[in-house]
Amino acid sequence: MKKEEISNLLREIEQVSLQTEEEIQTFKNIYLGKKGKISLLSSCMKDLSQDERRIFGEQLNTLRMKAEKMLQKSQEKLEEEKLQEKLTKEAIDISLPGVSFQTGGLHPITKIIEEVEDLFISMGYDVVEGPEVEEDLYNFEKLNLPKGHPARDSQDSFYIEDEEILLRSQTSPVQAREMDKNIEKTPIRIICPGKTYRRDDDDATHSHQFTQIEGLVVGENISVSHLKGTLEEIVKRLFGEDRTIRFRPSYFPFTEPSLEVDVSCFQCGGSGCSLCKGTGYIEILGSGMVHPNVLRGCGYDPDKYTGFAFGIGPERIAMLKYGISDIRNFYTNDLRFLRNFQREEGQNESK
Ligand code: DAH
Repeated sequence: MKKEEISNLLREIEQVSLQTEEEIQTFKNIYLGKKGKISLLSSCMKDLSQDERRIFGEQLNTLRMKAEKMLQKSQEKLEEEKLQEKLTKEAIDISLPGVSFQTGGLHPITKIIEEVEDLFISMGYDVVEGPEVEEDLYNFEKLNLPKGHPARDSQDSFYIEDEEILLRSQTSPVQAREMDKNIEKTPIRIICPGKTYRRDDDDATHSHQFTQIEGLVVGENISVSHLKGTLEEIVKRLFGEDRTIRFRPSYFPFTEPSLEVDVSCFQCGGSGCSLCKGTGYIEILGSGMVHPNVLRGCGYDPDKYTGFAFGIGPERIAMLKYGISDIRNFYTNDLRFLRNFQREEGQNESK
């Protein structure tokens, strides 16, 4: 009787098909649970003789193992199915186009400054920075611009607290600072890029904040021909190999003689066009031989030392080079404007 029950149960188990988690759980409860069919059968053992018990025990064991195996296999199958489903669902289509990342680019003014820095570094210059909040002493006095000097008018400044501290109106004070501390390190060869400030009303060619790159060389026997050779190099680098320069007499309080530098027009090559207003030349920077008063004021004997200096306006260079008519474009941070320089640089384009 019990034997029959076992073989019935065996057959029953073999026919079961377990597809879902619920079916598996139900099977477990019906056959293998504490009050399940197999447990119930084993509780009958106590009524059997010893021999019967042995045989019945073996058969019951086989039945239990069969049920457990079935349960395990179905569980494994279900796990596998779940995994496959997940893999299919979460598959990545590598043939789809990727998402492009927004990348920034160097600001056109930064690019000009870095280009100039690279050139001067290759000629053995140091790049030096100075404070933007500057003393009147360095911004004006030591540059041969005493209080009340009419040339101060062209550099109306933002004063801080009193008349002795201001936002520097030019990068020239870095010259004086370097000369002040470097007498024993002469010759000095430096360029000083940085921000400058003037109380100008903003318009197409004026900005209350702009940048300059100051250049200074001080040593023995430094002459105008050194200045000319140096500026010719920078002009070729910025505007092309065929460019030439010409000097025009000018006036800066900190240089004597002072020289305005023009570059041969890179649009018409010198024959005359609208960019150079028919003159064949474009004004690009101011320069000169360091004034003896400046040398003296910074501890140098002008009979022994001479030097040249120049001041480049990166905004002006960029406007000429890229044909930009309004200086405010550099500061309004309009991406449509700035992206033109990204492309020119060959950087990743952003969408
Ligand atoms: N600091 C002058 C300015 O802002 C530019 C300049 C001109 C600098 C001639 C120089 C120089 O060093 O020699 O207008």
